[in-house]
Amino acid sequence: MLKTAVLVSGGGTNLNALLKAEMEGKIKHTKITLVIADRPCPAIGKANKNGKKTILIDKTLYRGEEFTKRLLTVLEDEEIDIIVLAGFLKILSSPVIKAYKDRIINIHPSLIPSFSGKGFYGIKVHEEALKRGVKITGATVHLVNEIPDGGKILLQKSVLIGENDNPETLQKKVMEEAEWIILPKALEELASKITKEIKL
Ligand code: GRF
Repeated sequence: MLKTAVLVSGGGTNLNALLKAEMEGKIKHTKITLVIADRPCPAIGKANKNGKKTILIDKTLYRGEEFTKRLLTVLEDEEIDIIVLAGFLKILSSPVIKAYKDRIINIHPSLIPSFSGKGFYGIKVHEEALKRGVKITGATVHLVNEIPDGGKILLQKSVLIGENDNPETLQKKVMEEAEWIILPKALEELASKITKEIKL
C-alpha cells in the first residue's frame, strides 16, 4: 500500500478533508501515514487527534538547505511514496521535487492560471479575485514542479462568487465547495495511477 505524507502550515482544514475521506473509504490506494509541519500550527493537533504520526520540521530552526536535508531524511525513513501539500506555505526546493517527481500534489485556492504563482496564497488569492471582479473562482489541484503553481493541472472545481462575498466568506466557500472535495479525489486518482504503473 502506498504511503502518503501530508505537509501542513496552518488550520489543517484540507488535512481534515483528507482524513475524513480516508475514514469514509474514499481513498483506497494509499494510506496517510505521516503529517509534517514546518511550524507549530492547529493542523498538528488535528493530525494527532486522528491518530496520525506528526513531525515538526520547524523552519526557524532548520534554515534553507538544512530544511531540505531534514525533510528528505524524514520522507525516506518513513518510506513515503506520495506528498500532499495541504495549506503548506514553504516553497519546496528542487532536490525534493526531483526525488518525488510527479508524486507531489498541491491545492491552490483559485482556478489556475488565474490568481496563482509567486505571492498568491491564502486569503490574498481571494482578495485579488474580488478586486478583479471575476464572477467565478474555485480551486485547483496540480502536480508540483519548480514553478510555483506551475505543474500539470489534475483537477479543478468552480465556485460562483456572490454579490456580498468578501475575502473571508469567499475563502470559506472555496474551501467547502471546492478544495475539500477535489484534494481527496486527486490523491486517490494519483495513488491509483501509481499503483497501476507499479503493477505493470
Ligand atoms: C487555504 O486557503 C488553502 O486554499 C491553502 O492554504 C489555506 C489553508 O489551508 N492551500 P488549511 O486550512 O491549512 O488546509
